[in-house]
Amino acid sequence: MSLLRIDDLHVSFRTNDGTVNAVNGVSLDLAAGETLAIVGESGSGKSQTAFALMGLLARNGTANGSVRFDGREILGLRPRALNAIRAEQIAMIFQDPMTSLNPYLRISEQMTEVLRQHLGLSRKAALARAIEMLDAVQIPGAAQRIRMYPHEFSGGMRQRIMIAMALLCRPRLLIADEPTTALDVTVQAQIIQLLEELQREFDMSMILITHDLGIVAGSCARTVVLYGGRVMEEGPTEALFHAPSHPYTAGLLAAVPRLDIVQDALRTIPGDPPDMSHAPPGCPFAPRCAFAMDACARMPPLVPRKAGEGSWLRACHADPEAVR
Ligand SMILES: Nc1ncnc2c1ncn2[C@@H]1O[C@H](COP(=O)(O)OP(=O)(O)O)[C@@H](O)[C@H]1O
Ligand SMILES: [Mg+2]
Repeated sequence: MSLLRIDDLHVSFRTNDGTVNAVNGVSLDLAAGETLAIVGESGSGKSQTAFALMGLLARNGTANGSVRFDGREILGLRPRALNAIRAEQIAMIFQDPMTSLNPYLRISEQMTEVLRQHLGLSRKAALARAIEMLDAVQIPGAAQRIRMYPHEFSGGMRQRIMIAMALLCRPRLLIADEPTTALDVTVQAQIIQLLEELQREFDMSMILITHDLGIVAGSCARTVVLYGGRVMEEGPTEALFHAPSHPYTAGLLAAVPRLDIVQDALRTIPGDPPDMSHAPPGCPFAPRCAFAMDACARMPPLVPRKAGEGSWLRACHADPEAVR
């Protein structure tokens, strides 16, 4: 059975300039222990998909559709029920740790508070568990440094602390939203590697959200490509890398630096992501697509990549050989 199953999720925001349709019918499925990447350029609807399922949308946002976690519908649950699920079942980490860490409280206070509130641990037991978790995310001298304040740590160390906080209650699903975007390249690689190790050690499912296809190659078995709040295609990460079925995926891949060939410059996809308050009908990528044709005014359907495999590609109107 799936641990997480999203069916036809829609997210829209009311603004003074009209309605922004950020997520337009996303469906996806995650098994226990599975790692899934959600990739797409900025504005594709990645974060709002995650926020919707966590019940964390901004006040002007509405979510419709279905999100089942462990078989139970969680979209539209009351704040109290969601609060419990958020800490104990599904945890999320963000790009900027300072949005989730309180600058005025020692790390020890922030971590033990979570454990006391959600698991009812004593002060002493909570402190021991917090130190254990800082060890798990490889913070040297955890027993001493837990007394420090967030600003006394480097960016990479703060991100490790965030991960430790997210894992305190042993969630079954970890959602990491651009967890390394604010970090330099070497630290990025270390954090991704740490996430992979923790995912296995704690036997969690993981959703890694990123605009950078380069970092998902080794860390997630399956990848979903989002654009304009829609799934453009999804499948085993390797299959997507070797044979993208949609020009948008091919465009994202061309923007990944490669070590195996000499490149003069990285190709970025020309044009801007769609304005989701005036999204075109049909394929949202068509206005930027080199292969666009009249037929793109209709969004092509998702079809099985291979019969019975549970992996989907868009039956894009473009010639697949040309797209690759
Ligand atoms: N509170 C809000 N009000 C209006 N539009 C919003 C709001 N939050 C996000 N959006 C819009 O939703 C779209 C998808 O955003 P998001 O999911 O955050 O993208 P990303 O893929 O970069 O994470 C964007 O066009 C963004 O501007
Ligand atoms: Mg985002």
